[in-house]
Amino acid sequence: MRSLVRETELHPGDFILPLFVSEKISLPVPVASMPGVSQLPLADLIKEAVAAHSEGVPAVLLFGIPTHKDEEASSAYDDNGIVQQAVRALKAACPSLIVITDVCLCEFMSHGHCGITHFENQTAHVLNDPSVALLARTAVSHARAGADIVAPSDMMDGRIGAMRAALDLAGFHDTPILSYAAKFASAFYGPFRDVAESAPSAGDRRGYQMDAANGNEALREVSLDLEEGADMVLVKPGLPYLDIIHRVKERFGVPTFAYHVSGEFAMLKAAAAQGWLDEKACLLETMTAFRRAGADRIVTYAARDLARWLA
Ligand code: PBG
Repeated sequence: MRSLVRETELHPGDFILPLFVSEKISLPVPVASMPGVSQLPLADLIKEAVAAHSEGVPAVLLFGIPTHKDEEASSAYDDNGIVQQAVRALKAACPSLIVITDVCLCEFMSHGHCGITHFENQTAHVLNDPSVALLARTAVSHARAGADIVAPSDMMDGRIGAMRAALDLAGFHDTPILSYAAKFASAFYGPFRDVAESAPSAGDRRGYQMDAANGNEALREVSLDLEEGADMVLVKPGLPYLDIIHRVKERFGVPTFAYHVSGEFAMLKAAAAQGWLDEKACLLETMTAFRRAGADRIVTYAARDLARWLA
């Protein structure tokens, strides 16, 4: 009877798996703060992605950890960079897997900020417009390698418009943009910065990411990104921002994705390891809440487990 009147169903196809490919290693390196998540060398990345796809996960979100970092993030838009190599290898090994690339500069910057940064008395000033140019270059380089979707996560102003123009100019009219449109400056990103090696060396990201207190601003950010040409939008973090997901979906009706971020995942894993929470039940309830709030798809580190449980 309950299933007859159920409003929200989960399917393996609802989930997108984030993966971390590292140029620096030859064996997987597990990340302590994210049980079950590892930095992967290229060969293991392919194995993991193929396995996830065979379990019903339709898409992966790819992050890269380069050997070389500098103050212009040059490895981010190098056609032979680690992300570009990984995209080519993933599409060759598994053509029907949708490869989404995270477009950001933080993993490629020696200082860990998401754009070109000028430091003054320990304060980081990120320079918006020169950063946007590099982000657009990075997106084109990902598309050239074969990325199905590019997903800018930097939160610079005007980057969606610049990226759309650059992609079109390079002939990638059909490459959609999934914008991290409402991305909040969040303490829940901690474990991610361990795995992606992208913690800022000084300062924080409040100059470009949003204030947790602002819901109306999130709608303005989404509206700007849609005007500039975003095809899909993402809200991040997830559970603490269900109201934002709901308002974005109600207001715009566009494909709306949620990111169940590293800190949310780590809390659940830690409590489950203590025997304090039932991991499977909590994850399924969490994902149901995202879908009920209006999220069409969810980026989650638990995508493979969820796909298996729901098969
Ligand atoms: C990079 C980026 C971050 C996340 C995704 N892309 C971290 C940050 O902004 O510091 C966080 C994802 C997670 O916590 O799972 N800009």
